[in-house]
Amino acid sequence: MSDNFNKIYKDSLEKPEEFWREISNDIFWFKKPTKILNKSNPPFYKWFEDGVTNTCYNALDVHVENGKGNKTALIYDSPITGKKSKHSYKELRDKVSKFAGALINQGIKKGDRVIIYMPMIPEAVIAMLACGRIGAIHSVVFGGFASNELASRIDDSQAKILITASCGYEPNRVVEYRPLVDGAIKLAKHKLTKVIFYQREGNEIKLNGPNEISWDESLSNAKSIDCLEMNSNDYSYILYTSGTTGIPKGIVRDIGGHIVALKWTMKNIYNIDEDDIWWSASDIGWIVGHSYIVYAPLFKGCTTVLFEGKPVGTPDAGAFWKIISDYKVKSLFTAPTAFRAIKKEDPKGEYFSKYDLSNFKSLFLAGERADPDTIKWAENLLNVPVIDHWWQTETSWAISSNCTGIEMLKTKYGSACKAVPGYDVKVIKPDQTLAKPNEMGDIVVKLPLPPGTFPTLWRADERYKNNYMSNYKGYYQTYDAGHIDDDGYIWIMSRTDDIINVAGHRLSTGAIEEVLSEHQSVAECAVIGIADKLKGQLPIGLIALKAGVEKDNDSISKECVQMVRDKVGPVAAFKTVIIVKRLPKTRSGKILRGTVRKIADNEKYKMPATIDDPAILDEIKEDLLKNKILQE
Ligand code: COA
Ligand code: AMP
Repeated sequence: MSDNFNKIYKDSLEKPEEFWREISNDIFWFKKPTKILNKSNPPFYKWFEDGVTNTCYNALDVHVENGKGNKTALIYDSPITGKKSKHSYKELRDKVSKFAGALINQGIKKGDRVIIYMPMIPEAVIAMLACGRIGAIHSVVFGGFASNELASRIDDSQAKILITASCGYEPNRVVEYRPLVDGAIKLAKHKLTKVIFYQREGNEIKLNGPNEISWDESLSNAKSIDCLEMNSNDYSYILYTSGTTGIPKGIVRDIGGHIVALKWTMKNIYNIDEDDIWWSASDIGWIVGHSYIVYAPLFKGCTTVLFEGKPVGTPDAGAFWKIISDYKVKSLFTAPTAFRAIKKEDPKGEYFSKYDLSNFKSLFLAGERADPDTIKWAENLLNVPVIDHWWQTETSWAISSNCTGIEMLKTKYGSACKAVPGYDVKVIKPDQTLAKPNEMGDIVVKLPLPPGTFPTLWRADERYKNNYMSNYKGYYQTYDAGHIDDDGYIWIMSRTDDIINVAGHRLSTGAIEEVLSEHQSVAECAVIGIADKLKGQLPIGLIALKAGVEKDNDSISKECVQMVRDKVGPVAAFKTVIIVKRLPKTRSGKILRGTVRKIADNEKYKMPATIDDPAILDEIKEDLLKNKILQE
């Protein structure tokens, strides 16, 4: 291996303050920081604490000031509606400053929380940036979540207003936001002062009463507003993610560290320069969408694509190739599941051959483990490097990756490559000792984490400390397990908590269990994620009924499926309920979910020494066979 990557990586760990001080010179500061890292109160670290800057200024104004106002910032393409548009940096800056004025007219001040529950349209990006402009903290909620999830985010963030749209479009249906928003408002204890609806052409809705206003109306008497000077450690957003219980965790992002780190990644990880076209095919409701549809490409000053469509079905398995070809995209970032969907529909790549992809240089995958078959299929088809990299909502940028702008390392199929500069990744065994190369254990990152990672959880410092920073003193616990090999390559094998990954979407099985337990016939339940060829994992529910239930099993199963759809949302893709006589448990009463998962996936398993009644496992096996989850 050449020394370029090694040297930069070593510098980042040995002299983190010098390393990040130098990089921080690349962003715009109203006042440059003199204090780079405050380590006085671990595990709460502060990057660039006396710096003064603004997220929106770094995303838009700085490029306009530097004479790049006419350059395209945002390309919107919606194969679902047939709409396309382009915004230059100046046009986007002007729209954002006007909408910032509209937010101020609605009483939004620095530090107030604003929920954004919107489809993939430019107005969603405008709303996010407008919050940053005036120092409001946005919390984007993914459109595939139902009222309950939206309500819990309204309550936890104590948001003042909610910005939504009249509808979203999925390939087979229109997503009406009104009933979902109304449901959430009813459920939430905290009261919003206003809901702003963006009316989508052809699907406008009637607004009710003084608490609702249309996007256009809110702009009618709004003034354009300049960027507010913000402290580097103020928060730019809260993004809720699945925790180990049904209560989502509010991951917060600071301002200065976020801009510094994300801008650096565009060149160093993704090899993207200002003149390049970049596309992240995700959703703004997820961290990938926050960081790589919106923030990092705009901080970099390149062009980013906002795609309202799917890899298949909008209209066909050539949708990705069309976008890449039409806009001369240099690199694409998406989840492996998107490629599995394309591969399933077009295994020979017949759609691919219809397009000119001569500008396309690399494909990045994350969100779930990229299986070697999918990587090899994509490599053969695209004839460009396919890079699996690993990261989390908590970090907002990759923990491990091939840093293609520094030095292209060799691919090892199944590994997410090496730790990125800034991250000191280790594996710890259950006996709390550091693992040797190739030994499995919990993957942790030595503190302090680099800039841009979460400084705490929203109004939950103790939860931050207890959940992530306590099991291994001096380390951040990622809740991923795996090993690091002799060459320093990281292999992510599984989660160590109850999180599952469904089509690249992070879900808590605990949250689904909470919903199932509310069904009046359910005595107890277990939700596990089983392997799925398309989505990576799929949740299935095993339920044991209360004594004396007379309702037929089929109706109970259907009701349970509907409850999860209504309470968690369609994104859970929860379709299978198996009614069992009993659930296998340890003698102390803990349900043996891991063992059931292994049986369902036809993996070898050891009979747990603490099992209460081994015969139950045979019953479960029978039930899984009957329901065709397990094949003979
Ligand atoms: N708003 C409302 N509903 C949504 C939604 C949104 N933004 N996104 C998804 N849903 C719904 C879908 O319509 C579907 O509903 P259905 O049960 O009525 O069919 C359900 O949630 C499950 O969606 P999904 O898991 O996306 O499955 P799918 O079968 O519709 O599509 C893929 C499968 C692989 C094509 C799709 O998951 C995909 O494009 N993945 C790309 C990867 C990605 O974006 N990952 C995000 C993190 S990087
Ligand atoms: P999210 O916070 O939604 O980005 O999900 C983060 C989780 O997704 C991680 O903790 C991993 O379990 C999983 N994940 C993300 N990227 C990868 C990857 N490249 N390989 C394996 N798992 C991944």
